[in-house]
Amino acid sequence: MDKIKFAVIGLGNRGWSLMRNAIMPIDGVEIAGLCDIYDDRCERARAYVAEKTGESPVVSTDYRVMLDKAKPDAALVSAGWGAHVEIAVYCMEKGIPVAVEVGGAYSAEECWALVDTYEKTKTPIMLMENCCFNKAELLATALTRDGVFGEIVHASGAYAHDLRAEILASEENRHYRLQYHKDHNCENYPTHELGPIAKLLGINRGNRMVSLVSVASKSRGFAEYVNSHKDTINPNRIGEVYKQGDIVNTLITCENGETISLRLDASLPRTYNREFTVRGTKGMYEMGNNMVFIDGMKEFFDTMKGYLTYQDNAKTYEEKYLPAAWREMSAEGLKSGHGGMDGVEFRAFFKALREGGEMPIDVYDMAAWMSITYLSEKSIAEGSMPQEVPDFTRGAYKDRPIHDVFDLTVK
Ligand SMILES: NC(=O)c1ccc[n+]([C@@H]2O[C@H](COP(=O)([O-])OP(=O)(O)OC[C@H]3O[C@@H](n4cnc5c(N)ncnc54)[C@H](O)[C@@H]3O)[C@@H](O)[C@H]2O)c1
Repeated sequence: MDKIKFAVIGLGNRGWSLMRNAIMPIDGVEIAGLCDIYDDRCERARAYVAEKTGESPVVSTDYRVMLDKAKPDAALVSAGWGAHVEIAVYCMEKGIPVAVEVGGAYSAEECWALVDTYEKTKTPIMLMENCCFNKAELLATALTRDGVFGEIVHASGAYAHDLRAEILASEENRHYRLQYHKDHNCENYPTHELGPIAKLLGINRGNRMVSLVSVASKSRGFAEYVNSHKDTINPNRIGEVYKQGDIVNTLITCENGETISLRLDASLPRTYNREFTVRGTKGMYEMGNNMVFIDGMKEFFDTMKGYLTYQDNAKTYEEKYLPAAWREMSAEGLKSGHGGMDGVEFRAFFKALREGGEMPIDVYDMAAWMSITYLSEKSIAEGSMPQEVPDFTRGAYKDRPIHDVFDLTVK
């Protein structure tokens, strides 16, 4: 495959930004097809591609028509959550390798449709969970693989991102998320924190998630925001009822005995954080302070200054443990989105596509991680009763070797 002809389906915030900042800068990738249900979004992207490359991609508001005419080598689905599975299944059926943006699944059927279609067609599919490609998560995974933290016992993370203004302006921005907050109460965005944790714990590769319980707080954040922005808010929002709890805590038990704690925290005032933390018998990594603590580092406890001295000490492990994609990161690469991880992610997708190897995040990871959404909804609805997490590998996880997004073994 000399040049990869690529199509983007869904040209809202994410698709439009990925196309310009993460995909087009990659050599050997050409935008051959563009699709959004809105004409103006298609035209904005088409004009950009034409101006930058002189080429005019196939454009349609119907992804089937666009794929049929453009005949891309691969496609990205960056539409709203509700369209992901349908479009991904269609692409796999047509033999078009497909990269799918993140989201949760609202039913078991959606997850099994992805797995069944992949097993029938063997068309490559990858969940584009960019946090699996971030520096901190990769560093902590490499340290884990080298045994620095001992045996891992627990890992935690959060999607802590104040989305009140963005989601409550859904009508104005033609954005899809508000309806989910009216209709559902669940962990609706599990993969940013779960993805890197699942990779680190070897989920679907010798280990698996067995069960979960979820607890939701009351829902106040959106209503309070609407009340205190009455002068500027869309009047349709006033008096609306939101089912989605502001804080959803989910605890997952793994077959090898580890626990995972996830927190959805997207509708109260706060700063952004993912709070990625790994705990083992010999030490820990904590994203907030970018700190590695190894048992015996007693200076940590001598004085408060001792603790502060170690803030950001994870940097000292980078030379030995970071994969080349981050050690050799260019200034341009850092601009690819989310501090560079979006570019690292897309390069890994195209590399796997060219080399024909396993996708870094395959259909089994995708189904398992997305299932947390419908399972958490059921748990919350049943008063936090435990829910079994299906084994989407149908037993194969027992013998599947670890497959990190990069080779993280220390040379
Ligand atoms: N990985 C990340 O860091 C990250 C960041 C933001 C968003 N996302 C994900 O990206 C996806 C899109 O989010 P967004 O914020 O861009 O939403 P958005 O609403 O701004 O954009 C989605 C676009 O998809 C289009 N669309 C919907 N159904 C379609 C269909 N059937 N065919 C073609 N186009 C269709 C919509 O018209 C819209 O323009 C979501 O899955 C979201 O979770 C990921």
